[in-house]
Amino acid sequence: MLFSSLPERVKVYEVGPRDGLQNEDQVVPTDAKRRFVQALARAGLPLVEATSFVHPKWVPQLADAAALLADLEPIDGVRFPVLVPNAKGLERALEAGVDSIAVFVAASESFSRKNTNASLAETFARVRPLIAEAKAAGLWVRAYLSVCWGCPYEGPIAPETVAELSETLISDGAEELSLGDTIGIADPTGVERVLSAVAARVPLEQIALHFHDTRGTALANVLAGLQLGVTTYDASAGGLGGCPYAPGASGNLATEDLLYLLAGLGIETGVDLAAVRAATLELAQVIGRPAPSRYAAAGPWEPLGAVE
Ligand code: HMG
Ligand code: MG
Repeated sequence: MLFSSLPERVKVYEVGPRDGLQNEDQVVPTDAKRRFVQALARAGLPLVEATSFVHPKWVPQLADAAALLADLEPIDGVRFPVLVPNAKGLERALEAGVDSIAVFVAASESFSRKNTNASLAETFARVRPLIAEAKAAGLWVRAYLSVCWGCPYEGPIAPETVAELSETLISDGAEELSLGDTIGIADPTGVERVLSAVAARVPLEQIALHFHDTRGTALANVLAGLQLGVTTYDASAGGLGGCPYAPGASGNLATEDLLYLLAGLGIETGVDLAAVRAATLELAQVIGRPAPSRYAAAGPWEPLGAVE
Protein backbone atom coordinates (compact mmCIF):
# COMPACT_ATOMS: atom_id res chain seq x y z
CA MET A 1 0.00 0.00 0.00
CA LEU A 2 1.19 3.47 -0.92
CA PHE A 3 0.73 4.87 2.60
CA SER A 4 1.33 1.78 4.74
CA SER A 5 4.62 2.97 6.23
CA LEU A 6 3.37 6.25 7.70
CA PRO A 7 3.61 6.87 11.48
CA GLU A 8 0.72 5.43 13.52
CA ARG A 9 0.46 8.47 15.76
CA VAL A 10 1.25 12.15 15.28
CA LYS A 11 1.56 15.01 17.75
CA VAL A 12 -0.22 18.19 16.67
CA TYR A 13 1.28 21.34 18.18
CA GLU A 14 -1.30 24.14 18.15
CA VAL A 15 -0.02 27.64 17.37
CA GLY A 16 -3.27 29.52 16.62
CA PRO A 17 -3.49 31.62 19.78
CA ARG A 18 0.10 32.84 19.24
CA ASP A 19 1.03 32.63 15.53
CA GLY A 20 -2.60 33.19 14.50
CA LEU A 21 -3.50 36.10 16.72
CA GLN A 22 -0.13 37.89 16.45
CA ASN A 23 -0.99 38.56 12.82
CA GLU A 24 -4.54 39.87 13.23
CA ASP A 25 -4.99 43.61 12.61
CA GLN A 26 -7.26 43.88 15.61
CA VAL A 27 -6.44 43.02 19.19
CA VAL A 28 -8.69 40.15 20.28
CA PRO A 29 -10.07 40.68 23.82
CA THR A 30 -8.23 38.66 26.47
CA ASP A 31 -11.34 36.70 27.52
CA ALA A 32 -11.97 35.60 23.94
CA LYS A 33 -8.33 34.51 23.60
CA ARG A 34 -8.60 32.53 26.83
CA ARG A 35 -11.79 30.78 25.66
CA PHE A 36 -10.00 29.91 22.39
CA VAL A 37 -6.92 28.50 24.16
CA GLN A 38 -9.04 26.58 26.63
CA ALA A 39 -11.34 25.13 23.96
CA LEU A 40 -8.37 23.93 21.91
CA ALA A 41 -6.85 22.23 24.94
CA ARG A 42 -10.18 20.57 25.78
CA ALA A 43 -10.34 19.34 22.19
CA GLY A 44 -7.36 17.12 23.00
CA LEU A 45 -4.47 19.15 21.60
CA PRO A 46 -1.54 18.26 23.88
CA LEU A 47 0.32 21.54 23.33
CA VAL A 48 -1.36 24.88 22.78
CA GLU A 49 1.07 27.77 22.32
CA ALA A 50 -0.90 30.35 24.23
CA THR A 51 0.82 33.69 23.66
CA SER A 52 4.21 35.36 23.54
CA PHE A 53 6.40 37.47 25.80
CA VAL A 54 7.99 39.44 22.99
CA HIS A 55 8.18 43.23 23.21
CA PRO A 56 4.61 44.56 23.39
CA LYS A 57 5.53 47.41 21.05
CA TRP A 58 6.65 44.92 18.42
CA VAL A 59 3.55 42.70 18.74
CA PRO A 60 0.80 44.69 20.49
CA GLN A 61 -1.73 41.96 19.67
CA LEU A 62 -0.20 39.77 22.42
CA ALA A 63 0.63 42.47 24.97
CA ASP A 64 -1.86 40.88 27.41
CA ALA A 65 0.22 37.68 27.77
CA ALA A 66 0.45 37.75 31.57
CA ALA A 67 -3.26 38.55 32.03
CA LEU A 68 -4.21 35.74 29.65
CA LEU A 69 -2.16 33.16 31.54
CA ALA A 70 -3.26 34.35 34.98
CA ASP A 71 -6.73 32.86 34.61
CA LEU A 72 -5.93 29.90 32.39
CA GLU A 73 -7.36 26.70 33.82
CA PRO A 74 -4.75 23.91 33.84
CA ILE A 75 -5.75 20.74 32.01
CA ASP A 76 -4.12 17.38 32.75
CA GLY A 77 -1.60 16.41 30.11
CA VAL A 78 -1.72 19.75 28.28
CA ARG A 79 1.13 22.22 28.07
CA PHE A 80 0.68 25.90 27.21
CA PRO A 81 4.09 27.01 25.88
CA VAL A 82 4.78 30.70 25.30
CA LEU A 83 7.13 32.33 22.81
CA VAL A 84 10.15 33.99 24.42
CA PRO A 85 12.70 36.15 22.53
CA ASN A 86 15.23 37.11 25.18
CA ALA A 87 16.10 37.27 28.91
CA LYS A 88 13.44 39.90 29.58
CA GLY A 89 10.83 37.67 27.93
CA LEU A 90 11.93 34.67 29.99
CA GLU A 91 11.76 36.71 33.19
CA ARG A 92 8.17 37.73 32.34
CA ALA A 93 7.25 34.14 31.41
CA LEU A 94 8.67 32.73 34.65
CA GLU A 95 6.77 35.37 36.67
CA ALA A 96 3.62 34.19 34.90
CA GLY A 97 4.33 30.62 36.03
CA VAL A 98 4.71 28.91 32.63
CA ASP A 99 5.91 25.31 32.37
CA SER A 100 7.24 25.47 28.83
CA ILE A 101 8.66 27.99 26.40
CA ALA A 102 9.59 28.30 22.76
CA VAL A 103 12.61 30.31 21.68
CA PHE A 104 13.09 31.42 18.07
CA VAL A 105 15.92 32.15 15.68
CA ALA A 106 16.14 32.39 11.92
CA ALA A 107 18.09 30.68 9.17
CA SER A 108 18.85 33.99 7.44
CA GLU A 109 20.72 37.08 8.58
CA SER A 110 18.22 39.59 7.16
CA PHE A 111 15.16 37.91 8.64
CA SER A 112 16.89 37.73 11.99
CA ARG A 113 17.50 41.48 11.95
CA LYS A 114 13.96 42.36 10.87
CA ASN A 115 12.26 40.00 13.32
CA THR A 116 14.46 40.41 16.38
CA ASN A 117 16.60 43.49 15.74
CA ALA A 118 19.74 41.36 16.08
CA SER A 119 22.17 39.42 13.90
CA LEU A 120 22.13 35.63 13.58
CA ALA A 121 25.20 35.36 15.79
CA GLU A 122 23.63 37.62 18.42
CA THR A 123 20.36 35.68 18.47
CA PHE A 124 22.11 32.31 18.79
CA ALA A 125 24.30 33.72 21.58
CA ARG A 126 21.11 35.05 23.22
CA VAL A 127 19.05 31.84 23.08
CA ARG A 128 21.79 29.49 24.35
CA PRO A 129 21.67 30.76 27.97
CA LEU A 130 17.88 31.14 27.70
CA ILE A 131 17.49 27.45 26.94
CA ALA A 132 19.85 26.56 29.79
CA GLU A 133 18.11 28.84 32.28
CA ALA A 134 14.65 27.64 31.31
CA LYS A 135 15.68 23.99 31.60
CA ALA A 136 17.33 24.63 34.96
CA ALA A 137 13.97 26.06 36.08
CA GLY A 138 12.33 22.78 35.02
CA LEU A 139 10.67 24.06 31.84
CA TRP A 140 10.23 22.12 28.61
CA VAL A 141 11.94 24.00 25.78
CA ARG A 142 11.23 24.04 22.07
CA ALA A 143 13.13 26.09 19.50
CA TYR A 144 11.88 27.48 16.20
CA LEU A 145 14.12 27.96 13.21
CA SER A 146 12.38 30.32 10.77
CA VAL A 147 12.67 30.73 7.00
CA CYS A 148 14.15 27.24 6.54
CA TRP A 149 13.06 26.99 2.91
CA GLY A 150 13.30 30.61 1.88
CA CYS A 151 13.62 34.12 3.23
CA PRO A 152 11.52 37.10 2.10
CA TYR A 153 14.70 39.21 1.95
CA GLU A 154 17.39 36.75 0.80
CA GLY A 155 15.56 34.11 -1.26
CA PRO A 156 16.28 30.37 -1.03
CA ILE A 157 18.17 29.02 2.00
CA ALA A 158 20.66 26.14 1.61
CA PRO A 159 19.49 22.92 3.34
CA GLU A 160 23.01 22.53 4.76
CA THR A 161 22.62 25.90 6.54
CA VAL A 162 19.36 24.68 8.08
CA ALA A 163 21.05 21.44 9.13
CA GLU A 164 24.00 23.21 10.78
CA LEU A 165 21.78 25.63 12.69
CA SER A 166 19.47 22.76 13.72
CA GLU A 167 22.40 20.86 15.15
CA THR A 168 23.44 23.94 17.12
CA LEU A 169 19.98 24.41 18.64
CA ILE A 170 19.70 20.76 19.63
CA SER A 171 23.17 20.73 21.14
CA ASP A 172 22.25 23.94 23.00
CA GLY A 173 19.56 21.87 24.71
CA ALA A 174 16.30 22.46 22.80
CA GLU A 175 14.12 19.40 23.33
CA GLU A 176 12.15 19.92 20.15
CA LEU A 177 13.02 21.92 17.06
CA SER A 178 10.36 23.28 14.74
CA LEU A 179 11.51 24.00 11.19
CA GLY A 180 9.47 26.89 9.85
CA ASP A 181 8.41 27.61 6.30
CA THR A 182 7.61 31.12 7.46
CA ILE A 183 6.54 32.49 4.07
CA GLY A 184 4.96 29.31 2.73
CA ILE A 185 7.20 28.58 -0.25
CA ALA A 186 8.16 24.94 0.45
CA ASP A 187 7.08 22.03 -1.72
CA PRO A 188 7.48 18.29 -1.06
CA THR A 189 10.79 18.11 -2.93
CA GLY A 190 12.17 20.92 -0.79
CA VAL A 191 10.88 19.18 2.34
CA GLU A 192 12.81 16.07 1.36
CA ARG A 193 15.98 18.10 0.69
CA VAL A 194 15.87 19.91 4.03
CA LEU A 195 14.93 16.81 6.05
CA SER A 196 17.67 14.73 4.44
CA ALA A 197 20.27 17.34 5.40
CA VAL A 198 18.85 17.75 8.93
CA ALA A 199 18.50 13.99 9.55
CA ALA A 200 22.23 13.59 9.01
CA ARG A 201 22.83 15.70 12.14
CA VAL A 202 19.72 15.61 14.36
CA PRO A 203 17.33 12.76 15.31
CA LEU A 204 14.09 13.30 13.39
CA GLU A 205 12.14 12.42 16.59
CA GLN A 206 13.09 15.89 17.81
CA ILE A 207 11.94 17.66 14.66
CA ALA A 208 8.58 19.36 14.11
CA LEU A 209 7.41 20.88 10.84
CA HIS A 210 5.74 24.30 10.75
CA PHE A 211 4.15 25.07 7.41
CA HIS A 212 2.42 28.23 6.32
CA ASP A 213 -0.10 27.56 3.56
CA THR A 214 0.61 30.69 1.53
CA ARG A 215 0.81 28.82 -1.78
CA GLY A 216 -1.44 25.87 -0.93
CA THR A 217 1.37 23.32 -0.48
CA ALA A 218 1.19 22.82 3.30
CA LEU A 219 -0.73 19.52 3.32
CA ALA A 220 1.40 18.09 0.51
CA ASN A 221 4.43 19.06 2.60
CA VAL A 222 2.97 17.28 5.63
CA LEU A 223 2.52 14.12 3.57
CA ALA A 224 6.18 14.35 2.53
CA GLY A 225 7.16 14.84 6.18
CA LEU A 226 5.11 11.79 7.22
CA GLN A 227 6.71 9.67 4.52
CA LEU A 228 10.11 10.72 5.84
CA GLY A 229 9.11 9.83 9.42
CA VAL A 230 8.46 13.20 11.11
CA THR A 231 5.76 12.83 13.80
CA THR A 232 5.16 16.40 15.05
CA TYR A 233 3.31 19.04 13.03
CA ASP A 234 2.44 22.62 13.93
CA ALA A 235 -0.94 23.95 12.90
CA SER A 236 -3.18 26.89 13.65
CA ALA A 237 -6.90 26.55 14.37
CA GLY A 238 -8.78 28.22 11.56
CA GLY A 239 -5.59 28.62 9.53
CA LEU A 240 -4.95 32.09 10.92
CA GLY A 241 -1.46 33.43 11.23
CA GLY A 242 1.74 34.78 9.86
CA CYS A 243 4.69 36.74 11.05
CA PRO A 244 4.30 40.53 11.06
CA TYR A 245 8.00 40.78 10.04
CA ALA A 246 7.73 38.35 7.10
CA PRO A 247 6.16 40.19 4.17
CA GLY A 248 3.96 37.87 2.14
CA ALA A 249 3.48 35.35 4.94
CA SER A 250 -0.12 34.25 5.23
CA GLY A 251 -1.97 31.72 7.31
CA ASN A 252 -0.52 28.64 8.94
CA LEU A 253 -1.70 25.24 7.91
CA ALA A 254 -5.17 25.00 9.50
CA THR A 255 -5.45 22.53 12.38
CA GLU A 256 -8.78 21.26 11.07
CA ASP A 257 -7.35 20.60 7.60
CA LEU A 258 -4.35 18.77 9.09
CA LEU A 259 -6.59 16.67 11.39
CA TYR A 260 -8.84 15.75 8.46
CA LEU A 261 -5.86 14.54 6.44
CA LEU A 262 -4.38 12.60 9.36
CA ALA A 263 -7.70 10.94 10.20
CA GLY A 264 -8.12 9.98 6.57
CA LEU A 265 -4.68 8.38 6.62
CA GLY A 266 -5.67 6.44 9.75
CA ILE A 267 -3.10 8.30 11.89
CA GLU A 268 -4.07 8.85 15.52
CA THR A 269 -3.82 12.28 17.13
CA GLY A 270 -6.20 12.09 20.11
CA VAL A 271 -7.77 15.38 18.95
CA ASP A 272 -11.49 15.95 18.42
CA LEU A 273 -11.83 17.60 15.00
CA ALA A 274 -15.40 18.80 15.63
CA ALA A 275 -14.32 20.51 18.85
CA VAL A 276 -11.45 22.31 17.08
CA ARG A 277 -13.87 23.46 14.37
CA ALA A 278 -16.25 24.77 17.03
CA ALA A 279 -13.40 26.75 18.64
CA THR A 280 -12.50 28.23 15.25
CA LEU A 281 -16.10 29.20 14.48
CA GLU A 282 -16.41 30.93 17.85
CA LEU A 283 -13.18 32.87 17.26
CA ALA A 284 -14.31 33.81 13.72
CA GLN A 285 -17.38 35.47 15.30
CA VAL A 286 -15.04 37.52 17.50
CA ILE A 287 -12.78 38.64 14.65
CA GLY A 288 -15.77 39.23 12.41
CA ARG A 289 -14.71 37.22 9.36
CA PRO A 290 -14.56 33.57 8.32
CA ALA A 291 -11.33 31.73 9.14
CA PRO A 292 -9.26 30.55 6.15
CA SER A 293 -9.48 26.84 7.13
CA ARG A 294 -11.07 24.84 4.30
CA TYR A 295 -12.54 22.23 6.65
CA ALA A 296 -13.98 24.85 9.00
CA ALA A 297 -15.70 26.56 6.06
CA ALA A 298 -16.89 23.40 4.31
CA GLY A 299 -18.39 21.73 7.35
CA PRO A 300 -18.25 18.28 8.90
CA TRP A 301 -17.55 15.16 6.89
CA GLU A 302 -16.25 11.90 8.27
CA PRO A 303 -12.84 11.29 6.62
CA LEU A 304 -13.41 8.44 4.15
CA GLY A 305 -10.21 6.70 5.13
CA ALA A 306 -11.44 6.48 8.71
CA VAL A 307 -14.69 4.64 7.84
CA GLU A 308 -14.44 0.91 8.63
P1 HMG B 1 14.65 45.57 21.01
O1 HMG B 1 13.80 46.80 20.84
O2 HMG B 1 15.90 45.42 20.19
O3 HMG B 1 14.95 45.34 22.57
O4 HMG B 1 13.70 44.33 20.72
P2 HMG B 1 16.17 45.80 23.46
O5 HMG B 1 16.83 44.57 23.97
O6 HMG B 1 17.00 46.84 22.75
O7 HMG B 1 15.41 46.53 24.67
C1 HMG B 1 14.70 47.76 24.47
C2 HMG B 1 13.64 47.91 25.57
O8 HMG B 1 12.66 46.87 25.40
C3 HMG B 1 14.17 47.75 27.00
O9 HMG B 1 13.37 48.60 27.82
C4 HMG B 1 13.85 46.33 27.35
O10 HMG B 1 13.67 46.09 28.73
C5 HMG B 1 12.52 46.14 26.62
P3 HMG B 1 13.95 50.00 28.35
O11 HMG B 1 15.19 49.64 29.10
O12 HMG B 1 14.22 50.82 27.11
O13 HMG B 1 12.82 50.53 29.18
N1 HMG B 1 12.30 44.74 26.27
C6 HMG B 1 11.20 44.02 26.53
N2 HMG B 1 10.04 44.33 27.13
C7 HMG B 1 9.12 43.36 27.27
N3 HMG B 1 9.31 42.10 26.82
C8 HMG B 1 10.45 41.75 26.21
C9 HMG B 1 11.44 42.73 26.06
N4 HMG B 1 12.68 42.71 25.49
C10 HMG B 1 13.19 43.92 25.62
N5 HMG B 1 10.62 40.49 25.79
C11 HMG B 1 13.06 42.01 20.75
C12 HMG B 1 14.21 43.00 20.69
C13 HMG B 1 13.59 40.63 20.45
C14 HMG B 1 12.45 42.07 22.13
C15 HMG B 1 12.02 42.45 19.69
O14 HMG B 1 12.64 42.48 18.45
C16 HMG B 1 10.83 41.52 19.64
O15 HMG B 1 10.02 41.47 20.55
N6 HMG B 1 10.69 40.78 18.51
C17 HMG B 1 9.65 39.79 18.36
C18 HMG B 1 9.00 39.86 17.02
C19 HMG B 1 7.97 38.77 16.94
O16 HMG B 1 7.27 38.46 17.90
N7 HMG B 1 7.84 38.17 15.74
C20 HMG B 1 6.89 37.10 15.53
C21 HMG B 1 7.28 35.82 16.20
S1 HMG B 1 8.39 34.80 15.28
C22 HMG B 1 7.38 33.96 14.17
O17 HMG B 1 6.21 34.25 14.05
C23 HMG B 1 7.92 32.79 13.40
C24 HMG B 1 7.43 31.45 13.94
O18 HMG B 1 6.01 31.36 13.89
C25 HMG B 1 8.01 30.29 13.13
C26 HMG B 1 7.88 30.47 11.63
O19 HMG B 1 6.78 30.69 11.11
O20 HMG B 1 8.93 30.37 11.00
C27 HMG B 1 7.88 31.25 15.39
MG1 MG C 1 4.82 30.81 12.00
